[in-house]
Amino acid sequence: MGSARAIVGTEQTSNRGGLTIPVKEEPIPFHRAAFDEAEVSAVSEVVRSGWLTMGAKSFEFEKQFQEYIGAKHAISLCSGTAALHLALVAIGLRAGDEVLVPTTTFTATAEVVTYCGARPVLVDVDPLTMNLDPQDAARRITPRTKAIIPVHFAGQPCDMEEISRLAQHHNLNVIEDAAHSLPASYRGKRVGTISPMTAFSFYATKTLATGEGGMVTTDDDAFAAHIRRLRLHGISRDAWKRYTNEGTWYYEVEEAGYKYNFTDLQAALGLVQLSKCDALTEARRRIAERYSEAFADVIGLEAPRVQEDRTSAWHLYVLRLQPDRLNISRDKFIDALRERGIGVSVHFIPLHLHPFYRSAYGYRPGDLPNAEREYQRCLSLPLFPTMTNGEIERVIAAVTEVASIHQL
Ligand SMILES: Cc1ncc(COP(=O)(O)O)c(C=O)c1O
Repeated sequence: MGSARAIVGTEQTSNRGGLTIPVKEEPIPFHRAAFDEAEVSAVSEVVRSGWLTMGAKSFEFEKQFQEYIGAKHAISLCSGTAALHLALVAIGLRAGDEVLVPTTTFTATAEVVTYCGARPVLVDVDPLTMNLDPQDAARRITPRTKAIIPVHFAGQPCDMEEISRLAQHHNLNVIEDAAHSLPASYRGKRVGTISPMTAFSFYATKTLATGEGGMVTTDDDAFAAHIRRLRLHGISRDAWKRYTNEGTWYYEVEEAGYKYNFTDLQAALGLVQLSKCDALTEARRRIAERYSEAFADVIGLEAPRVQEDRTSAWHLYVLRLQPDRLNISRDKFIDALRERGIGVSVHFIPLHLHPFYRSAYGYRPGDLPNAEREYQRCLSLPLFPTMTNGEIERVIAAVTEVASIHQL
């Protein structure tokens, strides 16, 4: 079979045999997994063991994750979405309740609220960080508001002190959506230890990737026990052991639960990825800093800024264009980068602009103006630990070139 890999032309040339021929460069993907032989052999070992689903490896991963974060409990789940959902079930969210969710997020954050028959109330964002704006959240609290789900957008923690104060004042549960923020910290505290419950995602593109997967961290014994039971059909303790030699065939269903468990195959990936987590974060930070240094003096570009009292996991590098200084739209800017072989994405289309949230809850364009304004001018550049220096410099050159051509 011939190679199906796409090749893009560049201005570079090489001199081979006296002939100057154009060098074709591979496109730079938006994301590439940071796996090596260690992950391959860890997964092989699980396959050879004969035990594929949740078992000893999953519990070892939970133990190491909880130690890494510094939380009392870590409960592994099949996705970050499942982690958010079970956190909401654990607080007893019911039909008619309301939950505050930033509009700048992935739909999973709000969708889980609808699983409980409750209503996601969308909140505008702080234009600087693109994180939920606590003051806008305060304005949207009603007697039905039961919880708030701050999302640490792109990896930078939200203003958790303001959010905790608001939550205490109005008796709201705080569930942090940390899908982007492993590892990150706020005022010296690691994300995962700040609020009563925090949900992580190990989706394929996340900073710790197991393909699919998620985790809830909590210091609360009751929340932990309930989520452990809910993830496996509401069956009594150690249900997973019923097919092992130590287990027993007898079990009791204590409530209607879910099939949301993790697997040892995923845990094998997770354990290796966790051991590299700090090094991978450092690699991301280095790339982000190089980008920001390169874009600092380019007219029309605005690099992301991390507040001094927090560290970012750098899941995403969200660049913003200054529309009054460029004569190119964000969409055309992305087209121009794609033509230059650079993988680009956008995070996120605000939820209130999607057909579902408009028709189900009556949202309209203009309702959450900060989020819309930032959405119109943001784009996410490739940011993954295995980027080579050559790739980083190619991204910088392409972005700088497109901006320079279109400066006003
Ligand atoms: C902010 C945010 N929350 C939640 C999720 C859901 O995570 P998962 O894909 O593991 O279900 C994602 C996934 O992309 C996300 O970006």
